[in-house]
Amino acid sequence: MNELLRVALRLPPQASQAARDLDHLHFAVILTTLAGAAAVGALSAYYVVRYRRRGVAPATPDAETTWRVEGPLVAATLALFLAFWVVGYRQYLAAHAAPAGAMDVYVTAKQWMWKFSRADGSRSAGDLVVPAGRPVRLVMTSRDVIHSFYVPALRLKQDVLPGRYVTAWFVADRPGEYDVLCAEYCGVDHSRMRARLVVLSADDYAAWLSREGHSDVAGEDLVRRGREVAARRQCFACHTADGQPHVGPTWRGLFGRERTLADGTRVTADAAYLTRSMMEPQAQMVVGYQPLMPSYLGVLDAGEVGALVEYIRSLRDRGEASAVSLPPVRGAVDGGAP
Ligand code: CUA
Repeated sequence: MNELLRVALRLPPQASQAARDLDHLHFAVILTTLAGAAAVGALSAYYVVRYRRRGVAPATPDAETTWRVEGPLVAATLALFLAFWVVGYRQYLAAHAAPAGAMDVYVTAKQWMWKFSRADGSRSAGDLVVPAGRPVRLVMTSRDVIHSFYVPALRLKQDVLPGRYVTAWFVADRPGEYDVLCAEYCGVDHSRMRARLVVLSADDYAAWLSREGHSDVAGEDLVRRGREVAARRQCFACHTADGQPHVGPTWRGLFGRERTLADGTRVTADAAYLTRSMMEPQAQMVVGYQPLMPSYLGVLDAGEVGALVEYIRSLRDRGEASAVSLPPVRGAVDGGAP
C-alpha cells in the first residue's frame, strides 16, 4: 500500500523511518479527504436526481436543522483533523530534537555548492558520506545568502542562513545514493547547487573510514575540539569557563540562559545567539559590557563555530577551571555561577 501510493504520487524513495512516517500521515490525509470528497459528490448526485423538479410539483420543502445528525458529523470531522495535527506535531518535535550521541557533520552552503566537514577536520565538497542506521546531526551555516538544505529521500528541508548556525538531523536506514538539493532561490546557479548523500552499511562505512583515513568523531570529541579552538583563537583572553567575571561574559552556565540586552530586550543564549555573537558581536550587546569583541566572520570556519558552541553548551551545568586565575575586571556584571 505504502509503495503503491508512493509510486502513484511520484514521491522519491524513503531513506529513513521519519520519511516513511511523514508519508504515512500524508497518505492518510490524502485518502481521507479523497473519500470525503467522493462521498459528498455521490450524495450531491443522488440528491440532484432524487429531488429533481417533477412537473408542476412545488419546490423543495424547507429543510430543518437536525442536530442529531449534524452534531456528531461536525464533532467527528473536528476530531479527525485534530488527530492529524497531533500526529504531525509529534513528528515535528521528533524532527527537531537530535538524539544525544549523534554524529556531527558541519555543512557550509555557498553560491553554489555544499561543503561538508567532519568533526575530525576532514572535508569534502559534494559528497556527504554517512553510515546507515546511525543518527547524523547537521550543523549548518551559509557563507553568503540564504540557502535551503533539501534531501527529498529523507523528507528533510532546512533553511541555512549566513552568520547563523542551524541544525537538522536524520537516521538514514537504506544504503544508497540520494540527491541533496538547494530549495531556496539563491542566484543564477541555484538549480545546479547539488550534492550527494551516500549512505553506507556499517561494514562499508568502516571500510570507507579507514580507506580515507578519517576517524569516527562523536559529541565528547567535539567538546574537546571546541576547547582547543577557544584556546587557539584566544577566546580565553576575555571569557572564562569557570564562572569568573572578565572582559566578556563567562561561558559557565551561559548556554540556554536569558540575557538582557543593552536596549532592554531579552534573548535566550542558544546556538543561534552564540553564533551571531561571534559573527556580529555588536548586534546584540548584553547590558553592562563594552563593545570590545572583534567579529570572527570569515575567521572561524563552520566546523570551529560548531565546536565552540558545543563546548559552551557543555559548560551549561558545570564549570571548568580556567588555565589562569583572573583578577576581576571593573564593570563586569556577570560574575558567579548562575
Ligand atoms: Cu543555494 Cu539555492
